[in-house]
Amino acid sequence: MIEKLIEGFDTTRFQIDLIEWYNKYKRDLPWRKDQDPYKIWVSEIMLQQTQVDTVIPYFQRFIEQFPTPKALAEADEQDVLKAWEGLGYYSRARNLHTAVKDVVIRYNGRVPNDGKQLLTLKGIGPYTRGAIMSIAFNEPYPAVDGNVMRVFSRVLKIEDDIAQAKTRRLFEKVVGKIISKENPSAFNQGIMDLGATICTPKSPQCLLCPVQSHCRAYAEGIEQWLPVKSKAKKKKRISYISLLIQDEHGQIMIEKRPNEGLLANLWQFPMIPIKEVSLKHLPKYVYEKYGIHIRLENKQGELRHVFTHLIWDIEIFQAKTTDKVENDRLKQVSQEALADYPFPVPHQKMMEYI
Ligand code: ADE
Repeated sequence: MIEKLIEGFDTTRFQIDLIEWYNKYKRDLPWRKDQDPYKIWVSEIMLQQTQVDTVIPYFQRFIEQFPTPKALAEADEQDVLKAWEGLGYYSRARNLHTAVKDVVIRYNGRVPNDGKQLLTLKGIGPYTRGAIMSIAFNEPYPAVDGNVMRVFSRVLKIEDDIAQAKTRRLFEKVVGKIISKENPSAFNQGIMDLGATICTPKSPQCLLCPVQSHCRAYAEGIEQWLPVKSKAKKKKRISYISLLIQDEHGQIMIEKRPNEGLLANLWQFPMIPIKEVSLKHLPKYVYEKYGIHIRLENKQGELRHVFTHLIWDIEIFQAKTTDKVENDRLKQVSQEALADYPFPVPHQKMMEYI
């Protein structure tokens, strides 16, 4: 099966063309300054679902704040989430935090140079394992993400649906065969750079491509039709009212989200699903849920936030209270103190309405 896909493919020449190009044009990225497996790990987790340009400043601040697995393991989860604030997919940060604690306990703070052991760590799947093993330890493991599948679907004219899990496993087998055994680090990073800068989703720059002569899709003029990817199912919409509740000193009420599920343990302004209550009954609902009396004021605006599987539509209302609350998950804080808490992006945007 795999043999059939790479029949007649000049693997050796492909490796040379790719690696020479990578050595000449590789992007200057902060996680490429050394081969510290911890830094490679952090960068690869951040780069999942997030663009390189966005990741760079987060990566630099994160490594400055938590320079080693031990430093990260000893940090407070709230500080880790704060450092991740705005990157999204916060379970990445929570899993990384859990995993480095494991590395400290089980491996004395050293990231294991072992593919099987890496896979047992929270948040490390085949992609991250492959990236760490190849980039940090120069071991020939495939590191297949959506970009890598795009490149190889074109080069080898593979028409399987990349939205399916089994297709990723097919590409892992293919890359396992083609990857350079001498320089797997440059090979994998070369594919990543190629996917990011040349073999892009729309209008790939085939005329500049170092492996154009190997590319079956280019030879047939079908690069724009690959990869094949079935459509994601429609996102669910949920409508909320969110409340900016100020007391007589201008302190604002915030709540900590539940410690599991979407945006776990991040902070937000109280947010009520519209289907649970009408505007008229909102003060009573708030009293029952939060134990404070409010006087509802004007609508301040609305915003929409699109997650992977979900859309939030939020109407923002101002409210006043003279009551006080203070516990683990509910606080009233000054406007300046909001900066000490990790907030998801839509709630950061809401701060502009205060
Ligand atoms: N995307 C994912 N991993 C990457 C890496 N190590 N370098 C550049 N882009 C990437």
